[in-house]
Amino acid sequence: MKGYGDKMKVLVVGGGGREHALIKKIKESKRVDSIACCPGNGGISYDAQCYNVSATDIDAVVNLAKEIKADFVVVAPDDPLVAGMVDALNNAGFATFGPNAAAAIIEGSKVFSKNLMLKYNIPTAEYKVFDKAEDVIEYIKEKNEFPTVIKADGLALGKGVIIPENLDEAVAGVKEIMEDKIFGASGNNVVVEEFLTGPEVSVLAFTDGKCVKPMVSSMDHKRALDGDKGLNTGGMGTVSPNPYYTDEIAAECMEKIFMPTINAMNSEGRTFKGCLYFGLMLTPKGPKVIEYNCRFGDPETQVVLPRLKTDIMDIFDAINNETLSQLDIEWSDEACACVIMASGGYPKSYPKGIEITGLENCQTSGVTVYHAGTAIKDNKLVTSGGRVLGVTALGNSLEEALDKSYSAVERIHFDGAHYRKDIGKRALAAKKI
Ligand code: AMP
Ligand code: GLY
Repeated sequence: MKGYGDKMKVLVVGGGGREHALIKKIKESKRVDSIACCPGNGGISYDAQCYNVSATDIDAVVNLAKEIKADFVVVAPDDPLVAGMVDALNNAGFATFGPNAAAAIIEGSKVFSKNLMLKYNIPTAEYKVFDKAEDVIEYIKEKNEFPTVIKADGLALGKGVIIPENLDEAVAGVKEIMEDKIFGASGNNVVVEEFLTGPEVSVLAFTDGKCVKPMVSSMDHKRALDGDKGLNTGGMGTVSPNPYYTDEIAAECMEKIFMPTINAMNSEGRTFKGCLYFGLMLTPKGPKVIEYNCRFGDPETQVVLPRLKTDIMDIFDAINNETLSQLDIEWSDEACACVIMASGGYPKSYPKGIEITGLENCQTSGVTVYHAGTAIKDNKLVTSGGRVLGVTALGNSLEEALDKSYSAVERIHFDGAHYRKDIGKRALAAKKI
């Protein structure tokens, strides 16, 4: 990476709310004077030069990096990481942020990550792996314990997990994943695992493969509707910090989960450098890993990065140089909340191209609207995806952050918009215990 004297041009690969939050943070860096993004989105185009190159097209992204003479490339989404975009960029001589393919498998294959946890004694739900639908059904029938959890092995847009309440639902889900292949080859193998209970915590962590520096904690809200009802989504809102994640639990996670995972990946010859996402469940028997992601979470990033005070490029630099242990990463004590405004119908099919109005009324201090599924058409801002906006606010307390987010949400309009009214409710209740 370039030194302090020379300002850098950074290319961010991706085009959602997470990428918008990353770009806003990179923009604050003293070491950066220009940011590009591919493909970006309507809102990102105000903060970065957007290029119409797909985030999954490895050759095209490498060519773009060459063409624009990028000094540094941040690969944010899971699919290009798992497919080896970082390897290709490094081979072409670019400095990058994100794990190589050998390490990204920790998200790319649930069979890999479950076997890793078993081998290295990292707490997770008990499980069994299957490659034939009839064997899964027989196993579930025999066990006769519901709910149970069935996960497609590979990437599935965050939707590859089903939690059947009875045998009929299990049979239907297994058929969809393993026979109808709704997630393609991701469903060739499945993991069936024990149903765990307890509050969930997302912990994103920077790691250079030697040490791990967890960021401030957060809580996602994955279901589409209030009260955790409805279908699973990519995430309908987040808060940070997560009040269930006490200092004591954080210390336990560091000892039993975070460092053991970094060490396990090293032992497997798959050193992980980048942001490792720990999806945890705080069960009555202690914290357990629900999933690993090889990248920043979305919409966790939208509530975590606004609290970061250290120059993010210094962190990326330290990760590349394997000097992360020497860097003191500072966070603000404020709370942050993000409410996702989604297109009507999401996570099923939804219309696109609907005009969005009212954003100009949200320029209140501490409020940032991150764009996810937006585009600019005929000089108007329109919807272009399922999750459209991440309406985010910092506050002195979680209550204040949530109040600010929701009052901004009320000022934004697009036909059919839907959002959860109870983001942060569980976190607020936890604080009162
Ligand atoms: P994942 O895509 O692995 O994060 O799973 C999606 C959601 O399913 C998680 O956020 C949990 O709410 C739920 N889930 C996954 N695994 C389990 C489990 N073993 N027990 C209970 N809930 C689970
Ligand atoms: N919000 C969950 C994820 O990024 O996978």
